[in-house]
Amino acid sequence: MKALVLSGGKGTRLRPLTFTCAKQLIPVANKPILGYVLDQVAATSIKKVGIITANETGQFVEDYVKDGSSWNLNVCYIPQEPLGLAHAVKTARRFLGQDSFVMCLGDNVTGQGLEAFVKKFKNEHLDALIILKEVDNPSSFGIAQLDEKGNIVRLVEKPKTPMGNLAIIGTYLFSAKVHEAIERIKPSWRGELEITDAIQEMINMGFSVKAEILNSWWLDTGKKDDILSANARILDEYIQRDVKGTVTNSTVDGRVKVEPEAKIVNSTIRGPCVIGKGVLVENSFIGPYTSIGDGSKIYNSNLEYCVVQDCVTVKDIERLEDSLIGKNAKVTRNQRNRTIKLHVGDYSEVEV
Ligand code: G1P
Repeated sequence: MKALVLSGGKGTRLRPLTFTCAKQLIPVANKPILGYVLDQVAATSIKKVGIITANETGQFVEDYVKDGSSWNLNVCYIPQEPLGLAHAVKTARRFLGQDSFVMCLGDNVTGQGLEAFVKKFKNEHLDALIILKEVDNPSSFGIAQLDEKGNIVRLVEKPKTPMGNLAIIGTYLFSAKVHEAIERIKPSWRGELEITDAIQEMINMGFSVKAEILNSWWLDTGKKDDILSANARILDEYIQRDVKGTVTNSTVDGRVKVEPEAKIVNSTIRGPCVIGKGVLVENSFIGPYTSIGDGSKIYNSNLEYCVVQDCVTVKDIERLEDSLIGKNAKVTRNQRNRTIKLHVGDYSEVEV
């Protein structure tokens, strides 16, 4: 069995961060989301991984994952035009050969490993296994309708009038028969070859397709608020207290990870939190569910429920909440008057 990890796409809903970074590389708890996806693949017996990349951001993905040896995986890269998930499978046809594979979206994280799904897929000799989770906004996802026995009745991509609230999450298992179905489908209204349509086609063709309900959390990190939620979840589940940097005249409360060479001076840090390498926090309060990226400097400020990427400066900000701040950004207070002075990139959002 192989793995196909999708790390392409445009990430339009996360602009401007995605002008200089792939959306799958946005960090939660100071580690790119894609890293968690690869951790889950690495925990199975799968070794061969194809990563689908986009032309604009593929190099960033390659710089992070390299040959995959950090995960003990054997990784190759497959560039793709963003023409849909089924198109990505089609593009990876040579890499996949006749093998069955697990397909993971590089910006989806779940609290459950892949092993149980791989086992079910193999034991029951399935051609496709999809994983479902209840959502509040079914029109934004691929939706599955099941009968009382849990068999799939119908799958529809982003239905305008949803026939249920079970969304298809970004983890799929397929046999090589999926390729036959992909050959038969046409692009959707959004011009994409939809994997949901391909799976529906597999059902129409009489292949063995099953669904399993995810019994943990799932986050699709397509937007700012999803990144903040994923950050909170991961901090909650994975961060243990581990204070390596220096703490002077400060309180570090609860599950807080302070990386080496970080300095906490006259400040309070309340976990769960992660403070990156070489960070300086001075006269500040860093509240729960906050991640501060390597090399950032926080002076005289209060932050809570934030993702601050590397080398950011935050100075004299009384209260910064629910914020996602890109690399090398500066957020400071204009001391002389109450004017707001901005220098923000295209597609930025500023709430004052
Ligand atoms: C894609 C799939 C959709 C699925 C979702 C999961 O949506 O097309 O069926 O429910 O991923 O994250 P997209 O990210 O292309 O909007």
